[in-house]
Amino acid sequence: MTSFSIGDDKAVLSPMHKLGDALRQNTLVRIIERFGEEHSDSHLKDLVIDEVGPGREIVVLGRRVINFGSDSFLGLDQDPRVQKAIRLGLRKWGSHNGASRAFASVRANIDAEQRLADWLGVESTLIYPSVMLANLGAIPGLTGRHDAIALDEMAHSSMQEAAKIARANGTKVAAFAHSDPLSLEQTLAGLRPYRCALVCIDGVYSMSGKIPPMRELDAVARTADAVLYIDDAHGTGVLGEHGRGTVLEALGSYQNAFVIGSLSKAFSCAGGFIGCSASFQRLLKIRSSPYIFGGPVVPCYLEAIGTVIDILRSSEYESLRARLDRSIGRLTHGLTALGLEVMGGATPIVSVKIGDEADTLRAGKFLFDQGYYVQSVLFPAVPYHAGVLRVQCNANHEDRSIDGLINAFASLTESMGLPGRSQLAAAAEPPGGRGRAQNDGKNKDRT
Ligand SMILES: Cc1ncc(COP(=O)(O)O)c(C=O)c1O
Repeated sequence: MTSFSIGDDKAVLSPMHKLGDALRQNTLVRIIERFGEEHSDSHLKDLVIDEVGPGREIVVLGRRVINFGSDSFLGLDQDPRVQKAIRLGLRKWGSHNGASRAFASVRANIDAEQRLADWLGVESTLIYPSVMLANLGAIPGLTGRHDAIALDEMAHSSMQEAAKIARANGTKVAAFAHSDPLSLEQTLAGLRPYRCALVCIDGVYSMSGKIPPMRELDAVARTADAVLYIDDAHGTGVLGEHGRGTVLEALGSYQNAFVIGSLSKAFSCAGGFIGCSASFQRLLKIRSSPYIFGGPVVPCYLEAIGTVIDILRSSEYESLRARLDRSIGRLTHGLTALGLEVMGGATPIVSVKIGDEADTLRAGKFLFDQGYYVQSVLFPAVPYHAGVLRVQCNANHEDRSIDGLINAFASLTESMGLPGRSQLAAAAEPPGGRGRAQNDGKNKDRT
């Protein structure tokens, strides 16, 4: 950082230096930087992967380990048909579409949107470059200054950020207790009067792998002039019939729900999309800033979406799911037998509660040293002092890799004395409150 002198040679901080110093006063920055300093040997944050494959192997820091941190739940990132479609798309459309879609979309975009709509069972879809951008576009796009947003306190950060934009536009925003219909009812009552309300939830909570009680939340929403907005990023392509996600299965229809899907996780392509009526699609094209003022998904990836949908609609989906289910069952059974606090099990995300931040980093490093990469997830992705090791199962994980990971957890339990279910239940509530959204609500930690 530069400093410069004036008059009496007194060093004065440059504006750039002052800016950096100011940002270091932020609680979140201080916490993360302190983790980095205190655990410089844990090296599992901001990771660099030098090589991918074969199968689920990756090379990190010169070490070949099994990757249990990939969202490619069906293993389609390695599928030759998907890769071929992307190569053909590259030849057809070049390396990018150098214009906002507000000016022009390549035909591949329109075709992919129609294929997605037909597969999902909605009238229309609108593709954005990512789910984060879909949420940042659609949530403020669907609400105005006479409306309200009720957010699950554990809703994905992208929806929390989108709600902040909506709030700045005059929309009333409040959080309700995680997956709690009664709290939703009270929150919506507290937000009255409003014209319409959006209830923002995840289809699968990405850190715990839990699915919310959608039907109960929908019943509350309907009686309170509210529409569900469900970010099903982790359900798309891997849960429900033909991979259509969690929503149709739970609600039976999309009558009172917008569904947001990912093209970068189980789909192994790129982007995110909203499923809605044709008329909402037109409205969102006019009202979503990232759609208008940002660039689109690179066209070659759009060409692979149809290939993935063909796989999902075929009997192959069932066999991929069966392999995945077997792995999830094997893993959760093995981890639970070790007495660990295991969350999830209904989806490919299986989290093991560790608690303390330093322990979570140390536990992640221990498993890495044994040849397995899992994600050490800390605040603010989870509440403070509620760190987890997040394990993601993919259909192309081999049984011996699952067994090896369970054995590594067994060694970890012995070496670190990990807290079991009963100890965690007895642990006192951490300072700073239960949920991430409560921190968000204060709007202090995450400026
Ligand atoms: C629920 C949820 N929404 C949104 C995102 C962001 O998705 P993308 O990477 O497409 O921006 C994630 C990422 O993991 C997620 O879990």
